[in-house]
Amino acid sequence: MDYETIITETRGKVGLITLNRPKALNALNSRILAELVSAVNGFCADPGIGAVVVTGSDKAFAAGADIKEMQAISYADAYSQDFFVGWEEFTRARKPIIAAVAGYALGGGCELAMMCDFIIAADTAKFGQPEITLGVIPGMGGSQRLTRFVGKSKAMDMCLTGRMMDAAEAERSGLVSRVVPAAELVEEAVKAAAKIADFSLPSVMMAKEAVNRAYETTLAEGLRFERRLFHSLFALEDQKEGMAAFAEKRKPNFTNR
Ligand code: CAA
Repeated sequence: MDYETIITETRGKVGLITLNRPKALNALNSRILAELVSAVNGFCADPGIGAVVVTGSDKAFAAGADIKEMQAISYADAYSQDFFVGWEEFTRARKPIIAAVAGYALGGGCELAMMCDFIIAADTAKFGQPEITLGVIPGMGGSQRLTRFVGKSKAMDMCLTGRMMDAAEAERSGLVSRVVPAAELVEEAVKAAAKIADFSLPSVMMAKEAVNRAYETTLAEGLRFERRLFHSLFALEDQKEGMAAFAEKRKPNFTNR
């Protein structure tokens, strides 16, 4: 499909989405949201794809929601259209999505990265929730997801002062899973996604579902949920193949899609 604000490609079993509004530092407008959701849904529906990477440019993953698009919106419109609710569809993707972040990931850009399953950052990455400087607050999940990632004190600091966090601080705080040299960012993220895509797809999807459940429920319910998913995996060929391959000291060949 032809997109205006993103570029999509496949690298083996990995779907790669590059945000592509360079003149606006990949600011997230309604068009980019629609295209991103369409691309992710397309990759999720494609049995040949096992994981997705979302990236931006060297300068900006995304510098936030599009301020120029938002500027004139009225309270009545924001409320009645439930402005930003469309991003919930992005978070409903069931295949893993890795955010590969270089440069600015601010406001909605930081929030989009946090909607992905994990973040690999270039050493040039800068994260922030600067909405307070615009007279608003995060609206795509920043106050909730950032707090879960980095804890109350740092999330308050970021949301109340609007300051940026560099890649080293983001890794120290648990916001990103790893930091890599900027020149290797996309290659490293695609390599991680390719590794995931080679595993049993139902196991991968259940692992994602189980980890996400930890944010939504009590420990007792989460443990029960995990155990039930674990039990169900014994119905798959991939469990037989994975364990047989270990015993026979060979590489498994997972076939459940
Ligand atoms: N929305 C719309 N346009 C944006 C944008 C945004 N969030 N961020 C940057 N741009 C545009 C600039 O207006 C500029 O366009 P023009 O050339 O037409 O003037 C172009 O991108 C390049 O930007 P700068 O000239 O500002 O580049 P810089 O290198 O000097 O600064 C920056 C980079 C520090 C990221 C700066 O652009 C900036 O502060 N951007 C806004 C960051 C921000 O406040 N983000 C939060 C948005 S609100 C939000 O996201 C709400 C939410 O919770 C979802």
